[in-house]
Amino acid sequence: MLNFIEDIQKNNNCGLEEAVRIALRRVVGAYVIVLLDKDNPDTIIAARKGSPLVIGIGKGEHFLASDASPIIEYTKEVVYVNDYELAILKADEIILKNLGNEKLTPYIQKLDMELAAIEKGGYDHFMLKEIFEQPDTIFDCLRGRLDVEKGTITMAGIQQNIEKLKNANRIIMIACGTSWHAGLVAEYIFEELCRIPVEVEYASEFRYRNPVIHQGDVIIAISQSGETADTIVAIEKAKENGAFILGVVNVVGSSIARISHAGAYSHAGPEIGVASTKAFTGQLAVLVMIALKIAKEKGTIDATRYMHLLNELHNVPEKVKEVLELSPGIRKLAIKYKDAKDALYLGRGYNFPVALEGALKLKEISYIHAEGYPAAEMKHGPIALVEETLPVVFIATKDSYHEKIISNMQEIKARRGKVIAVISHGDDIIPKMADDTIVIPEADELIAPILSVIPMQLLAYYIGVAKGYDVDKPRNLAKSVTVE
Ligand code: G6P
Repeated sequence: MLNFIEDIQKNNNCGLEEAVRIALRRVVGAYVIVLLDKDNPDTIIAARKGSPLVIGIGKGEHFLASDASPIIEYTKEVVYVNDYELAILKADEIILKNLGNEKLTPYIQKLDMELAAIEKGGYDHFMLKEIFEQPDTIFDCLRGRLDVEKGTITMAGIQQNIEKLKNANRIIMIACGTSWHAGLVAEYIFEELCRIPVEVEYASEFRYRNPVIHQGDVIIAISQSGETADTIVAIEKAKENGAFILGVVNVVGSSIARISHAGAYSHAGPEIGVASTKAFTGQLAVLVMIALKIAKEKGTIDATRYMHLLNELHNVPEKVKEVLELSPGIRKLAIKYKDAKDALYLGRGYNFPVALEGALKLKEISYIHAEGYPAAEMKHGPIALVEETLPVVFIATKDSYHEKIISNMQEIKARRGKVIAVISHGDDIIPKMADDTIVIPEADELIAPILSVIPMQLLAYYIGVAKGYDVDKPRNLAKSVTVE
């Protein structure tokens, strides 16, 4: 890129700014470029395409970064640069232009983020801090939205587009990684409450297919960072085809938040640990609220169930606190099972995606091979792996699938697998069968994943730590995947 720009400068006998503009009209792919001309060292030229770029505005200085977290130590005023824009920075001036050399007015955004949010605050790792923040982050996510007294959910982005949402022909959830698992939970919730068909797509597959998208389709793009390249391209594609894009994003001002037609933030605060934890529970809380709001407007939920779920959501932060109190016991389990070579995670219904998420957490943090499966599907393959040394984690809280999952557990025990079960208070059957149990508060089955995922996070964390790994920076993984 540098050689190319230099060539353009020579051939056109122009300055750096003009040369960059010409170059950017011709290059393809995703990039962020920051340039300094040695003949003009007081000016920085920066641009982006596909990858994020944030400029912090200080006093007589500017800061450039891929997201706001490293900047907040210095300033809370930032400008998010868009694709096909050129930022020309001098010590006390910021000029924004499009590639046609027309000046644009920079939109200066105030960051609502405290420095403490990106510090470890006495915890050994960001991941542990973020797991323990969940009572607060979920509370923040519900605050100002959920009003149990009035029986209302206030979400401007949803309310303003309620007609489109309740009349959607179908909803497609698009996401990657942990966010994709949130999409899977949401599939069950939206279909149950809103009676709208839902599909859940990996962004990386969706973007390269030739998907059938119609006007009237709603895409829900779920992303912690709001910068995942595959998700961005996938929703741009859907947008071109006339779909309505609703973003469920954590990072305020991120690319997906800006590309979406409307959205709802998950308000989990900055997530630094590479393995996503509090962002996931925030996404679930937001998605439940959206589904409830649509269902209420659409008339697909009765008043009693609606109020019951509102109350259940309201009680989640307190119940999460109770789950976190189990961490010393989960740490002991981690030490017991840390030398396993493989692990199987099984769940049914709303807890099936939690099994996938549990397995993903373990892989990411402890490098133990793990598979998540719908419990009934294991007889079509994974059951062949069951032997005495295989830990099988069951997410088996009380729900409409309870008896079924108990029979799945019996199948594992009959083959001498080791069963670790996450169960609800008051379950007196599973403790008689399982090798180990983690007992969490009871909750409506639709809400249960927000609680049942927490032992999964803690188990993976403590196993990773017990094995001596750097859980905040697992090998080969990135927090924000801004390349395809
Ligand atoms: C990376 C991260 C995961 C995350 C996934 C999707 O793989 O390590 O934690 O779930 O990207 O990221 P997003 O920011 O779009 O949720």
